[in-house]
Order: sequence, then structure tokens, then C-alpha cells
Amino acid sequence: MNKTRAKITGVQGYVPDYVLTNKELETMVDTNDEWITSRTGIKTRHILKGEDQGTSVIGIAAVNGLLKKTNTDAADIDLLICATTTPDMPFPATANIIANAVGAKNAFNYDLQAACSGFLYALATGSQFIETGKYKKVVIVGADKMSSIIDYTDRTTCIIFGDGGGAVMLEPTEEGEELGIMDSILKSDGSGEEHLHMKAGGSRRPASPETLDRREHFVYQAGSAVFKFAVTNMADVSAQIMEKNNLTGEDVSWLVPHQANKRIIDATARRMGVGEEKVMLNIHKYGNTTSGTIPLCLWDYESQLKKGDNIILAAFGGGFTWGSIWIKWAYDPS
Ligand code: UT7
Repeated sequence: MNKTRAKITGVQGYVPDYVLTNKELETMVDTNDEWITSRTGIKTRHILKGEDQGTSVIGIAAVNGLLKKTNTDAADIDLLICATTTPDMPFPATANIIANAVGAKNAFNYDLQAACSGFLYALATGSQFIETGKYKKVVIVGADKMSSIIDYTDRTTCIIFGDGGGAVMLEPTEEGEELGIMDSILKSDGSGEEHLHMKAGGSRRPASPETLDRREHFVYQAGSAVFKFAVTNMADVSAQIMEKNNLTGEDVSWLVPHQANKRIIDATARRMGVGEEKVMLNIHKYGNTTSGTIPLCLWDYESQLKKGDNIILAAFGGGFTWGSIWIKWAYDPS
């Protein structure tokens, strides 16, 4: 008898309408389109505008689309996990807000925070509940409203991030099916805190007039230090999951890298021996949406994916956190 695995049976993304271009950023900070494009690969990013619009807006749109597409009754969802670094509020969990809005009244829900690796962590976690046989329908959301924690006077970070996200449906494989989430390697190193963090707004340094004056409610990133860790670790962990499972570059149909920087993506693909035609790329459109990048890639490329395709997901982010997941895609384009 085959082991029951979790397989992805649908994916849906969502980005808000407003498009922030490199040209508009040139009017906000001392930067230019040439620098942003050559150093990051980003041309535009989408921004969620309006009063009281949180990350749940992105998650709700993605999950509603997913339910329609997979012909799923919201009441049949057992569990909804939302990977996010920008929850609507410290509590309740954004996952609960999303589940309530979409009518997933029988699900239990929680948020998971692993910065840019959040979607990978949530996918690996959610798939366990399917593998044990405990649940049949698990929704994994990866979504962030990064514009809510970005300082638009800091040119080193404001050019990078955007808002958006996506959701996937996880269901058990059928008897005899050898596909789905095949393996995962997840890593953390807490010493990375010094290079990438948000100083205030948590329990260590709650919001105060002083934290506001010091502009501590924004992302702090030591870009070039993070770049070095990201290049090495994302490439290493991707190569590691391939070696562990005897996969060569030839066997891999797609690399789905976290979209932080085109140069990090290129280095990872080179290390894996995967040609650029097999690398999912949408950083030019959306920038870095943190937990949203990987489901947005799967959504953009869904029509090109075939049943049995070997897909390697890879991410690196704040924490530090990083990892890779090997998936055998479960369905052909409709
Ligand atoms: O997703 C979570 C994990 N995060 C990452 O993986 C991000 C990793 N880091 C990066 O992607 C890159 O380090 C950045 C895109 C953030 C920065 O690129 P870089 O090539 O590492 O640039 P740098 O920080 O070494 O800065 C080079 C120069 C500096 O000027 P000087 O000191 O050489 O005169 C910066 O002040 O570029 C300057 N600079 C800019 N110039 C124009 C920094 N930001 C900008 C800008 N426009 N927006």
C-alpha cells in the first residue's frame, strides 16, 4: 500500500490593483529604474490601498477564488493556515478572519510566521495533517501586505517589497498515486535577527511616541549581509533536497524560488543545474511579497504545469529561515 501524501489540487493568487512603478519610486526616494532593475530585477509591485485593508483582504480573495476553482464547499475545509508576517492585528489570527469571511465554519485556523519562508513552512506543516489521515481538506495561504511595514523614505527597502499572496488546496493522494508533497527540508538560524527585523511593535518594544519618532515600525534589512546568506543557503538547501532524492537538473521540471532578488534566483538555478527556462519568475511584476511569492508563482505558471512534473520550491528569509520542498505536481492544466 502506498503512503498517503498531501497533493496540491488547486492554486489561486491575488494582487491588489494599484501598481507602484520604478518611475513613481524615483519621485519618492533617490533611486532610478536602471539601479532597481539591474540590482533586483523588479519593475513594478502592487500595493493594497485604502482604510482598514489588511492582509486578510488578499487572503480572502485568494481563498474565495480557490474554492470556486476547485468546486469546494467552504464548510468542508478542515484546517486553514495563513503564513504571514503582516497579520491584520496581533490577534486574532488572520487565518481566522479569512476563514470566517469565506464561510469555512468547520475549520480550525492559525497563523504561521516564518517571514519569506512562511509559505514553505506552512505547506510542510499542513501536509502532515493530511499524511496522518486526520484531515482531508487543508488550505494553505501565503499573503503579506508589506507596504504596511515599509518605510517609503528608505530607498534600500522600499524598492523591493510589494503586497499580494495566494492559496493552495491540499488533499490526500488516491491509492496508487505516487505524487504530491514528496519531501521537505526546513532550516532556521536565530542569529540572523540582527540583519533583518522590525524593532518595535512587539512585546519587547511596544509602540510608543519614541518608537514612532525613531521610525522603528518598519523593516530593517542589512541588504548585502542578507544577500550573502540568501545566495548560499537557498542554493545549498535546493541542491541538498535534490541529492537526498537522487534528482538531477534534468529531472527537475520547475524551480519555484522565493522572489527576493533576481541575482539570488539565478545563483540558485546555476547551483542546481537547472536552465533558466525552467525557473518561475514574476519578481519583475510583483517584487518581494514575502509569504506570497511562491503561491503567486504557482498561480502564474499553473497552465504550464503537468501531472508528474518534479517541482522544487525554495525560499530564504528573515529569522533566518530557509528551506526547500520537492513536489510531484498532481494535475494537468484544465
Ligand atoms: O526576502 C527576504 C530576504 N531578503 C533578501 O534576500 C534580500 C537580499 N539583499 C538584496 O537583495 C540586495 O542586497 C539589495 C537589493 C537589498 C541591495 O543590493 P546590493 O547590490 O546588495 O546593494 P548594496 O546594499 O551593497 O548598496 C550598493 C550601493 C550603495 O551605495 P554606495 O554606498 O556604494 O555609495 C547604496 O547606498 O547602492 C546604493 N543603493 C541604492 N542606489 C540607488 C541602495 N539602494 C539603492 C536604491 N537606488 N534603491
